[in-house]
Amino acid sequence: MRKPLMAGNWKLFKTAAETKDYFTRFLPMVAGSRHCEIAICPPFVNIPAAVEAAAGSNVGIGGQNVFWENQGAFTGEVSGPMLKACGAVWAIIGHSERRQYFGETDETVQRRTVAAIAAGLRPIVCVGEKLEERESGRTEAVLADQVAGGLAGLSAAGFAQVVIAYEPVWAIGTGKTATPEMAADAHRFIRGRVAGHFGAAAAAAVRILYGGSVKPDNVKGLMAQPEIDGALVGGASLDPAGFASIVNF
Ligand code: PGA
Repeated sequence: MRKPLMAGNWKLFKTAAETKDYFTRFLPMVAGSRHCEIAICPPFVNIPAAVEAAAGSNVGIGGQNVFWENQGAFTGEVSGPMLKACGAVWAIIGHSERRQYFGETDETVQRRTVAAIAAGLRPIVCVGEKLEERESGRTEAVLADQVAGGLAGLSAAGFAQVVIAYEPVWAIGTGKTATPEMAADAHRFIRGRVAGHFGAAAAAAVRILYGGSVKPDNVKGLMAQPEIDGALVGGASLDPAGFASIVNF
């Protein structure tokens, strides 16, 4: 039985003060939510404020990226051990915005994922096709490449720490959600690729989240699909009541 994970990706939003205020309002609304794991990934600088605000609660904090070296002359990067030392437990890796704006590739995704696991973080590795890839019938080829290039090189023990997030790029921040059936088809395909690389047991165990315009009013339909093991939520995770209602779908 895969326990759902509901993860909020705050992207480039909220100050430390706004982070504290969010948790004051959010935590009571999810304190009784035992049906799923809950994660929130704020910008790096607000991870300590989030960890402090969420201490002792059922909400785990994560980063939105992680570098593959532990330390060194890498201006602007943050490493896995640094995140871990701040109290983070999750790390989003390979988000489509990283791929689109910051040159992330399947190779760097794999390096970051390996580093996150080595640091004791749980990676949430994002895959997903762009609109023109879907329209030209290349969705499965793209997903297969992303799984092969970003994940297939992990050890079996490493892969056991991974959560995959399927986020069709055309659905992110656009208000266009994949239908539950479209998402489930992609999830089935990804799970099949995982089976090819890591075997049937690993494929049955890995959680695959859906992301892309998940809102309080569409989460139920998505979560009704047995293939969908949770959500990675951007915009709608910024409002405590909205994200709580997604968590408590
Ligand atoms: P969205 O973002 O929910 O705002 O579409 C999802 C994501 O990018 O993880």
